Amino acid sequence: MSEQKIPHHIAIIMDGNGRWAQARGKKRVFGHKAGMERAREMAEVCGELGVKYLTLFAFSSENWNRPQDEVSFLMELFATSLKNESKKLNKNNVKLTVVGDKDGFDKTLRKAIDKAEALTQDNDGLYLQIAANYGGRWDMVQAAQQLAAQGQEITEEGIAAHLVTGGGPDPDLLIRTGGEQRISNFLLWQAAYSELYFSPMLWPDFDGDALQQAIADYNQRQRRFGQTGEQVTTAEQGD
Ligand code: IPE
Ligand code: IPE
Ligand code: MG
Repeated sequence: MSEQKIPHHIAIIMDGNGRWAQARGKKRVFGHKAGMERAREMAEVCGELGVKYLTLFAFSSENWNRPQDEVSFLMELFATSLKNESKKLNKNNVKLTVVGDKDGFDKTLRKAIDKAEALTQDNDGLYLQIAANYGGRWDMVQAAQQLAAQGQEITEEGIAAHLVTGGGPDPDLLIRTGGEQRISNFLLWQAAYSELYFSPMLWPDFDGDALQQAIADYNQRQRRFGQTGEQVTTAEQGD
C-alpha cells in the first residue's frame, strides 16, 4: 500500500461536547472541559503527523445565543486555556492565531489572545488557528468591507486575501464530529473544495485513531476540482 497523504490543512467542527456530558449525567460545561483537552491533544497529534495547518471551530458567532452561564463558562475556559497552554505551544514550535471577530470578546480575553499570539508569532511548526466568534458570512462581509474601504476592486483573490485566514491555504479535509451533517457557518468560502468528513463520534471521544481513520478516508477520495476523473489520473501519473 502506498503511503498515506497527510492533508496540509485540516479544519474541524468540534461538535458534541454537550451531549457527551449529558450522556454521563453531567452538566454540558463538563463536556466543554473534556473537549478542550481533546483539542489540545489533536494539536499535538497533528503536529506529529506533519499537518501544517489545523483550524478548530471553538465558538461560532451564533453560539452567543446559548444560555448565559454556558457562554460565560466557555469564555473563561478559553482565557484560562490560552494562559495555561501558550508556553507549551511555544515550546512545541506552534504558531497560534485566533480567527474571528475579536472585538466581541471582553478585555481580559482579548489580552490573553494578544499575548498568546505575540508569544508564538515567529514559530513555523504547526499553524494552529482557533476560530472563535467566527462566522463564515461575517468573514466574507468583513473582507469585502476592507476592500471597499481601500477602494480596491472586488475580486476572488482580493476577498481570499482579506478573509481572517488571509493568504493561508484552504482546508483539504473538513471534519465535523457529533453526527450532524452541516457546516454551521464555518469556513464558507475556504471550504469550497474541502473534502467533508462527518463522524458520529462526539468531540470528547474523537482521538488520534479517529483522526487517522478520517485521514484514511480522505486518501480514498479523488479531488477533481471540476475536471474529469481521467484528467486527474493522467496528471497524477505524470507526477
Ligand atoms: C460544540 O459542542 C462546542 C461548542 C459549540 C462551543 P456543543 O456544545 O455544541 O455540543 P452539543 O452539540 O450540544 O452536544
Ligand atoms: C458548531 O456547533 C460550532 C462549533 C462547533 C463551535 P453548533 O453546535 O453550534 O452547531 P449547530 O447549532 O448544531 O448547527
Ligand atoms: Mg452542537
